Amino acid sequence: MARSSGEDQSWRVSQLPLPPRRAAPLTLPSFNAFSIYSSWGFHSATQDSVDFTTGAHNFTPILSLAEELGMYVIIRPGPYVNAEENAGGFPMWLTTGAYGSLRDDDQRYTDAWSLYWEEISRLIVPHLVTNGGNVIMFQVENELDGQWTDIPNRVLNPALANYMQLLQDSAREHGVDVPLSHNSPRMDMYSWSKDFSNATGNVDVVGVDSYPSCWSCNLTECTSTGGEYTPYQVGSYYDFFAAQSPRQPSFVPEFQGGSYNPWGGPQGGCPDHIGADFANMFYRNLIYQHITAISLYMLFGGTNWGWHACPLVATSYDYSSPVSENRELWSKFYETKLLTLFTRVAKDLAHVDRLGDSTSYTDNEAITTSELRNPETNAAFYVVMHDDSTSGTQETFKLRVNTSEGEMTIPRRGRDITINGHQAKILVTDFTFGGKKLLYSTAEVLSYAVIDGSEVLALWLPEGEAGEFCVKGVSSAQLSHGSGVEAFEAQAEADTITISYIQRSGLTALDLDGSKVLLMDRETAYRFWVPTLDNDPFAPPEKTIFVQGAYLVRSAVHDADGHALYLTGDETESASLTVFAQRDIYTIYWNDVQAPITSSGGGIYVIETEGPAEFTLPELGPWKSLDSLPEIKEDYQAYPPAWVVAANTETPNPTKPASNNPVLYVDDYDIHTGNHIYRATFPTTDEPPTGILLNMTGGLAFGWSVWLNSKYIGSYHGFSYIGDEIASFSFDNATLKDGGENVLVILMDNSGHGLRELAIEPRGITEATLLGPKDEYDFTEWKIAGTAGRRENIDPIRGPLNEGGLYAERLGMHLPGFPDDDWEETVAPGETIVVPEAGVRVFRTTVPLHVPEGLDVSISFRLTSTSDGTFTPSDDAYSNRLRALLFVNGYQYGRFSPHIGHQIDFPVPPGILNYDGDNTIVLTVWSQSAEGVEMKVEWLVNYVHTSSFNMLFDSSYLRPGWTEERLQYE
Ligand code: GAL
Repeated sequence: MARSSGEDQSWRVSQLPLPPRRAAPLTLPSFNAFSIYSSWGFHSATQDSVDFTTGAHNFTPILSLAEELGMYVIIRPGPYVNAEENAGGFPMWLTTGAYGSLRDDDQRYTDAWSLYWEEISRLIVPHLVTNGGNVIMFQVENELDGQWTDIPNRVLNPALANYMQLLQDSAREHGVDVPLSHNSPRMDMYSWSKDFSNATGNVDVVGVDSYPSCWSCNLTECTSTGGEYTPYQVGSYYDFFAAQSPRQPSFVPEFQGGSYNPWGGPQGGCPDHIGADFANMFYRNLIYQHITAISLYMLFGGTNWGWHACPLVATSYDYSSPVSENRELWSKFYETKLLTLFTRVAKDLAHVDRLGDSTSYTDNEAITTSELRNPETNAAFYVVMHDDSTSGTQETFKLRVNTSEGEMTIPRRGRDITINGHQAKILVTDFTFGGKKLLYSTAEVLSYAVIDGSEVLALWLPEGEAGEFCVKGVSSAQLSHGSGVEAFEAQAEADTITISYIQRSGLTALDLDGSKVLLMDRETAYRFWVPTLDNDPFAPPEKTIFVQGAYLVRSAVHDADGHALYLTGDETESASLTVFAQRDIYTIYWNDVQAPITSSGGGIYVIETEGPAEFTLPELGPWKSLDSLPEIKEDYQAYPPAWVVAANTETPNPTKPASNNPVLYVDDYDIHTGNHIYRATFPTTDEPPTGILLNMTGGLAFGWSVWLNSKYIGSYHGFSYIGDEIASFSFDNATLKDGGENVLVILMDNSGHGLRELAIEPRGITEATLLGPKDEYDFTEWKIAGTAGRRENIDPIRGPLNEGGLYAERLGMHLPGFPDDDWEETVAPGETIVVPEAGVRVFRTTVPLHVPEGLDVSISFRLTSTSDGTFTPSDDAYSNRLRALLFVNGYQYGRFSPHIGHQIDFPVPPGILNYDGDNTIVLTVWSQSAEGVEMKVEWLVNYVHTSSFNMLFDSSYLRPGWTEERLQYE
């Protein structure tokens, strides 16, 4: 089958038999590592158990996947992680106060973390790079500064230092032998660095986290930063590392990949001011400042499902990240990829000194330059950007560089370099690609590969800008493919060639004595992929190829004799892909289908892919419904195991309750998450009480409603910024009993425990006082209903944070398979859901979904009411005072409180949704209004892509169904 290169190959396509389907190794585009937290709270439902095996608790697959992908892993197991998780990732049982103030060397706390820490260490050890795996670093704790009580005099804070040391000693004892790291939240604490002291608690690598544009979409949450393109304190990271850890990598364990969207934040997050421009400029600024390792927080935030969320966020953790919560890639992802493709091939960048940074490198004072030079190879990187980071002006300039051919000012012939808007550039000199050298380039290097022994160098520039580059070791240049450049000029001298051009739209290939240079604009570069042919995280250029034109390329692999190329990926529509690969390829497959090759020659192939795909969702509904607050009914009996008698007279919590009642903190009774119901009884005495004062603590956005003897007497509706509140309610609307006990029912919504020291702030009632003519009234008894089974963790697959204590939840009505045959059908698809008075109703529907193989259909649920402007059912001011929970196949995937805001769209991934079978969708709707509430629920397709990823993977183990044992929690 030997063939000459360059001839048209399409005639052979139809003659070749279709090969058997092959499993292609996946490659992640251009990143070489990822970091991941492990949440102790998710894995530890009780003090004596940790679960790393059940359902999604199994940690091993992601470590194996890293090996398959060829990516290094930085594991961040806590024990405290923050991450906007409930109690910062601490287990719920740890929040009572019984373990001290946490995050120090208190023996009670030490005993608490030991089991989890040993288990996570054991689990990671086989995956360490020292044992043939891909885990290169192990982070101890998270943003725990304060090693010193006096920094200049190095006076140690022993409780913290001992804690850090204990964690490290334990990890080492259990076999963790990779560097231990830590992330500082700020640049003035100088904790845990071996270069700064030899004190207790020091780790091997210290880094600093940085969110220059605020970690929250609500900019008022950030006092030290904020606003668009805020000054990034040029020089400060550099100076910080020089002072704190000069002999360590300059490591940013968390750099702003986006911002979380808090309760009440802008609908859809804040992608605008932290979008592609932010990525372009701020990520390059890190390189400007000699940073050597960057981990973006978050690259993909996803959903904080199942009450992972602490009071800060509802359920969305989209984070305005490069990869959206619904898995979509947007311009920020593509922009980030432009840089990471470059850093992957810029091997000389791994070892550079910063020789200078100033505005005197160019002839334009608005531009500052950082010169980074590799002392061994003399390769240099000049990072150019606005001196004032907030400036978005268009600037042009020439740059003074020092090369192996001496000092020069570039461009030498063509038009000036441009920085247009919030942008930066990294311009190289003496950049080695394969056997050749780029003496300099005013266009940025995107990547290079060595294919069939010849170099293919890819350069990019924004459309309309001028570029000039000079290659050593070649003497001629010819345009060989495409026509995306203007004013093209090539000047040969001795053994160098200098090319100047203006970049227009599209991809252009030049032939340089058998090597290729590809020139492209930003949009073309966005869709330029460099899949690796094996799983070496270093991605050797000899083991990569180029594919341009696809929405996403996931993998590339050759068959045994190298004549067939299998590409996999995702497409939004039909497309022409240009493939740069070895010359003797006869067939190219895109997602296992042989793709027509419309042109080929010289190792450049143009293939066509099919699309677009379509998918229509079935109707959502009809919905059956049932009352979910029988607890307020006259004849309701409150028995165990659904109810626990609250009789504790003491609490370990340092915040003591204010009233004379038994302790009413839910965590003291092993109730921790979601909704709780209190039931208090009291007699009708002489001069009976006329109302009640309640002081409650439930976290931001929390709220409660109160009933007396079945009659609704009021609600505290809640605000995004209030986590505890006092309110009193009059008994005017209710009637006290003549004899017997009055029954007071308080339904409260607990939004979770706060972060850091707030993790042990109590949740529940801190004071309940009956008000009336007498000074004092006594309650007879208090009971609380919460998550079914409490510490028994009765849904180990979905985990301890998934459900609360509503009647519907306790009985498992949110689970697939709950018998609802005798429920009434009350809401047709698309109709308004109504809860006509104060109370709670549960709505259930089961809908089939059949997504054909080969499609990625991204699905969201949309919950709307009056306040978000998308739905106006009535003019009642209180018609949006509701608290709804969305369960998808038993998983809590949405919390909707329209009067608090912000989230209306709730993306749900395959695996949680069954893409080939029935899906049980459940809503609980709590009306906090006597006039009732109205809302709508829809589901929508965010996009349909053709994809090689099989959405029909076996996920049934993630969706266990209802069992009869739930009935005891009535
Ligand atoms: C960091 C913290 C992360 C996350 C982030 C804000 O300080 O380490 O866990 O909370 O802030 O999203």
